[in-house]
Amino acid sequence: MNAAWGDLLSNPELVPLHVRDEIGDAAHRAAAAGARLPLEFMGVGMYGIVFCGREGHAWKVFRMGPEGPSRFIFDVLTGEFEWLRDAAETPISGNVAKVFAVHPDEVVLERECVPGTPGGWADERSLWDLHVSIEKAMVPVGWSAPEFKGSSYIIREDGTPVLVDISMAQRLGMNIAGYVEDRLAARREGHETWHDLAFFVLREIREKAIPKEYGMDLVRRLNERDPSIKEGFSLEGRGRPRPRQAGFRA
Ligand SMILES: Nc1ncnc2c1ncn2[C@@H]1O[C@H](COP(=O)(O)OP(=O)(O)O)[C@@H](O)[C@H]1O
Ligand SMILES: [Mg+2]
Repeated sequence: MNAAWGDLLSNPELVPLHVRDEIGDAAHRAAAAGARLPLEFMGVGMYGIVFCGREGHAWKVFRMGPEGPSRFIFDVLTGEFEWLRDAAETPISGNVAKVFAVHPDEVVLERECVPGTPGGWADERSLWDLHVSIEKAMVPVGWSAPEFKGSSYIIREDGTPVLVDISMAQRLGMNIAGYVEDRLAARREGHETWHDLAFFVLREIREKAIPKEYGMDLVRRLNERDPSIKEGFSLEGRGRPRPRQAGFRA
């Protein structure tokens, strides 16, 4: 085993070859964020390497090059945290992982560890039904569902499927309006351009999820930041409709 990190992990033999170069850094960042050793390697995706620590929490360490996290990666991390935090207040709270904290210095998301095997469901149809009910619960609180993927769900010991991976959910309605207010007031940063934000606001006005007068005032204030925004945008149905139903991907 790799001497640099083999002793930090209880199951180093399960780390796939293609992520071996990243594991030492990831394990050290999880420990710096507060994970207790030894770590159990749980899985890897496009964005994160996930360990469970001895305290029973899962630590999603965001993958990045030596240049550090991009603004986009940082937004994926905070978006995932906010989605899970808001989901905990809805009727589907029992089917989503609990979330504990963002660790910005280490670029780590701390959430509930859900032991079990993701994906490979005998019955993906019932998982799809659950996904639709998660979407129904989240749209009223201002979030789209994440893209549907079997590997984002883990089955608990008692048989309950739990959604763990929330990459790429979108803010809807007054949630995006509040986010735009925060961006305009420099209360938060984000990767989206003023142009992107105007696009989202116009889409939500068309969906009647933001009142027209208030939404157009937001667009006017965005236009003060970027005068090119007027071009190509109108309320008369240009642009894609919002993603109401998450697309199915096997
Ligand atoms: N809370 C968790 N508990 C247990 N295993 C997890 C947890 N979160 C993720 N995993 C495992 O790690 C893998 C990668 O995590 P995921 O959040 O899906 O990252 P990505 O956003 O990169 O796809 C998952 O497919 C799953 O196998
Ligand atoms: Mg994933």
